[in-house]
Amino acid sequence: MVNRRQVVIVTGASRGMGAAAARWLGKAGAAVAMTARDQRSLADAADDVAARGGDPLPLPADVSDPESCVRIVKEALERFGRLDGLINNAGVLEPVAPAAAADRDAWRYNIEVNLLGPYYMTAAALEPLREARGRIVNVSSGAAVNAVAGWSAYCAAKAGMTHFTRVLAVEEPDVTAISLRPGVVDTQMQGVIREKGPGNMAPDKTDYFQNLKAEGKLAPPEMPGRSMAWLALRAPVEWSGRFMEYDDPDILGPARGMMGEGDIP
Ligand SMILES: NC(=O)c1ccc[n+]([C@@H]2O[C@H](COP(=O)([O-])OP(=O)(O)OC[C@H]3O[C@@H](n4cnc5c(N)ncnc54)[C@H](OP(=O)(O)O)[C@@H]3O)[C@@H](O)[C@H]2O)c1
Repeated sequence: MVNRRQVVIVTGASRGMGAAAARWLGKAGAAVAMTARDQRSLADAADDVAARGGDPLPLPADVSDPESCVRIVKEALERFGRLDGLINNAGVLEPVAPAAAADRDAWRYNIEVNLLGPYYMTAAALEPLREARGRIVNVSSGAAVNAVAGWSAYCAAKAGMTHFTRVLAVEEPDVTAISLRPGVVDTQMQGVIREKGPGNMAPDKTDYFQNLKAEGKLAPPEMPGRSMAWLALRAPVEWSGRFMEYDDPDILGPARGMMGEGDIP
């Protein structure tokens, strides 16, 4: 289904929407280098990609470490010989606390994972991505533009990532860089909000997230996952620098056309 065998790196691919994007890529017949810290869950997620016809390469790593990011790209190139896409999806929410009370080490680690990690991965991947006229999908958040009390590090990191994407668009004419708002999604990160929110976030926000779960209104990870996968394979260069919604009809239509109408790969 992919033009030739396209090769995509997905960070944070062991669960949630990164794992879902990897499954969609597998269904499309792509080769997928997958990374996350926990080796065991990454291996399980890689098996799911293989079961859908993809060619997975699990590479356990922490994206906050620049040398690990260089290694991920190097090993993906050694195995597959080219690189067409990079999905910077790995992320952490914590610390969930007002800035005045937040743990400094947790604040620093948030920035290292959510902002520096995508930068390290991008810097390591740019040369092969230029050669392939490839794509970068930065998984951002509404928190990039909405100030959420209790999420200072996360909001700052996602705002930085989104603006970094715009800079990439003006610096790198041969690469298409998109930042994506994936919606509000039923993953482990939402569990962290429900657990840590009370007492650390505004009560109306805490209630909002608790109610979304209770009322079954969180999106399944497969929905943004399909948009992430399609963008990594097909996003047109004219879109470079955009901050897009996962359910933008310009993405959803062709993504469904390529990968299927159903929401579960
Ligand atoms: N869920 C939502 O409603 C929502 C909304 C807006 C944006 N987002 C964004 O969507 C992305 C995916 O989140 P999710 O909801 O799918 O979360 P999730 O279920 O918690 O998954 C996060 C993934 O990132 C990996 N990860 C975390 N820290 C890492 C590190 N230092 N190095 C490498 N991998 C790391 C995790 O695996 P390990 O723990 O094994 O490393 C896991 O695979 C994140 O960037 C998040 O900010 C989520």
